[in-house]
Amino acid sequence: MNRLFKRHVNAIEVNKIPRKILNNGNSIPCIGIGTFGSDLYGPNQVAEAVVYAAEYGQRFFDCASVYTNEKEIGEAFQVILNGGVSRKELFIASKVWNDMHAEGKVIASCEKTLKDLKLDYLDLFLVHWPFPNFHPPGCSVDSRSPDSKPYNHDSYMIVWRQMEKLVERGLVRSIGTSNMTIPKLEILLRDCKIKPAVNEMEIHPHFQQPNLYNFLEEKDILPIGFCPIGSPKRPERDKTELDTVDIEDPVIKDIAERLGVHPAIVCLKWAVQRGHIPIPFSVTPSKIESNLKCVLDSEIKITEKEMYEISKIDQNCRLIKGQVFLWEKASSWEDLWDINGVIVK
Ligand SMILES: NC(=O)c1ccc[n+]([C@@H]2O[C@H](COP(=O)([O-])OP(=O)(O)OC[C@H]3O[C@@H](n4cnc5c(N)ncnc54)[C@H](OP(=O)(O)O)[C@@H]3O)[C@@H](O)[C@H]2O)c1
Repeated sequence: MNRLFKRHVNAIEVNKIPRKILNNGNSIPCIGIGTFGSDLYGPNQVAEAVVYAAEYGQRFFDCASVYTNEKEIGEAFQVILNGGVSRKELFIASKVWNDMHAEGKVIASCEKTLKDLKLDYLDLFLVHWPFPNFHPPGCSVDSRSPDSKPYNHDSYMIVWRQMEKLVERGLVRSIGTSNMTIPKLEILLRDCKIKPAVNEMEIHPHFQQPNLYNFLEEKDILPIGFCPIGSPKRPERDKTELDTVDIEDPVIKDIAERLGVHPAIVCLKWAVQRGHIPIPFSVTPSKIESNLKCVLDSEIKITEKEMYEISKIDQNCRLIKGQVFLWEKASSWEDLWDINGVIVK
């Protein structure tokens, strides 16, 4: 990456970004930025956005090997670190993909991520999905791989034991889960040596997941919310007729109008005030700025009454349904989410 780090003239004061303390004593900034460019933005564009975000004061970056841009983001981190930002100021997360769940593979995946990101440790490493199921890039959302399997706890524990080893070896400071359900977490909590510090999950005003959210709070596991704005630019193949649009909700729009901000900002401020960590994606400088700035702007405050109103607009509308991870005998994508409180096998 042919670029020097140049602190933004209006950069926010990094030490004023509130941090949350995880159950292992480590701390995490109260907002991050996603790095999944999907079909829209290539690796270099996302890497440029990472540098720009850091120049503006962003310190938490949510990466993943499956986003196929970690090498370029590694170059971006070099620019940021060479520009005078200390490693300990940054909070860098990544995730092991579903094809690297076998014995030895989780550790190999983390080592590859560290090499690509040019780091010697990660602040957070997540199990991206609780299934070893994957699909070729670009396949149809309805296709089912004959190798796909329902959840298997013994297999998950093979993954988790390696996650624990990564902490013991000092390659990773905190470990966590993603796309989990209450019954899956219950048996993980029963069997783990190191409990997850976070669970990364879909959270936006139209998909609040109150039961899982309360469960996590009770167990002192911090929710990180993906698709915090309702992922308005996700590919058409990931949309269904029943999907609702958070930033078009009249309650969100009214609050945005009162505050003089884009409805996306209301979604983010709601997340921060509710207490979970949103990780909005953007490569657009003005959006990167407004997403971070709103956290510190005391004039952008959602009132208690408005927080209550937002709690009432939940549509239980899951956007990332996970169809491509279904096994042949599964009946529908809902099987991935244990909606009756029992692990679907
Ligand atoms: N753990 C998991 O399984 C998982 C799953 C999905 C996502 N994630 C993570 O979550 C991140 C975010 O998810 P996402 O990208 O799907 O959804 P999102 O953050 O809800 O939506 C991103 C889109 O919103 C637009 N946007 C951002 N800020 C805006 C603003 N202030 N005003 C208006 N529009 C704004 C962006 O527009 P522009 O494109 O114009 O900038 C971008 O295309 C991902 O990048 C990834 O890191 C994790």
